[in-house]
Amino acid sequence: MYILAFESSCDETACAVVEMSEDTRQIKSNIIASQVDIHALYGGVVPEIASRAHIEAISKITYEALEVAGVTLDDIGAIAVTQGPGLIGALLVGVSFAKALAFARGIPLVPVDHIKGHVAANYLCHKELKPPFLALVMSGGHTSFFDVKSYTDFEEIASTQDDAAGECFDKIGRVMGLPYPGGSAMDKLSHKGNPQAIPFPSPAISKDTLNFSFSGLKTAVINYLNTKKQKGEEICREDVCASATHAIVEAVKQKVEMALKKTGYNTIVLAGGVSANSHIRAGIDEVCQKHGASFFAPDLSLCGDNGAMIGAQGYYEFLDGKRADETLNAFPS
Ligand code: KG4
Ligand code: ZN
Repeated sequence: MYILAFESSCDETACAVVEMSEDTRQIKSNIIASQVDIHALYGGVVPEIASRAHIEAISKITYEALEVAGVTLDDIGAIAVTQGPGLIGALLVGVSFAKALAFARGIPLVPVDHIKGHVAANYLCHKELKPPFLALVMSGGHTSFFDVKSYTDFEEIASTQDDAAGECFDKIGRVMGLPYPGGSAMDKLSHKGNPQAIPFPSPAISKDTLNFSFSGLKTAVINYLNTKKQKGEEICREDVCASATHAIVEAVKQKVEMALKKTGYNTIVLAGGVSANSHIRAGIDEVCQKHGASFFAPDLSLCGDNGAMIGAQGYYEFLDGKRADETLNAFPS
């Protein structure tokens, strides 16, 4: 069946058509209208501007998604939409648009959790992947381990106690004057730096839990940068990026190793915007090879927010009988 899917939780307005069945998981179109350039002026997402930009983009990208897929609304078996978490005003644009379209055309409407959508990006890239497995979701707003018991049944078994990994990358990047969002710029710069140059604190808070804490690392790096600036000393941005990334990668490796032992799973799935990080991917791959576990991460084009991942998850929610009517509301958290 064809699913038309909408994603508008943050700063990308996205619409996709995916074709899903028991043995098909195919992206027919995946259109993203990014607002990154607009928010870059402010060094972060401005919620009010995001909502307005979603309104301006959503009709146009819907036509485009249908056209690129070579289908019409008559071919669509279900409409999937991100219900949350995310920015409330931004979410409401996608939810309202999807509700109106579903109601007007009598198409079943399926609400989708954004985090589950990120995990589902992996189904589109790895046809053999099936739950159960262990998922690590690392995005701008979340860093959590999930026991993925089935396509729709997730149990969060650990999370960050404060900032998310992406937030940590972005805030450090902003203080260093890197282009917004800082995560991908730091990824590139850190390849040219020395990961051992500066001993930053680990975001792996304690050896007994799978939880993370990124605020201590973020503060330590920002303090380091401010102290250097006050003293008028040169900052080697490459070394700062490499050392901060090293602290994150070592913590992720430690927690993934612990999670594999604790849960007994031998498949780990990485998801979310931060899953594009080359060092984190390589680090988890190394741990999985050591333990004979399988490791899956989305293609780079599907790591960030997109509609196809919402369509893929929407299909499994649809099979589970999940439906919404015109009273559907967005939930920010
Ligand atoms: O999942 P996502 O697109 O949006 C949310 O749901 O939050 O994640 C965005 C986050 C941003 O913090 C961004 O800096 C980060 O993903 N990111 C990266 C990389 N590419 C994007 N972080 C580290 N390394 C990257 N290569
Ligand atoms: Zn996301």
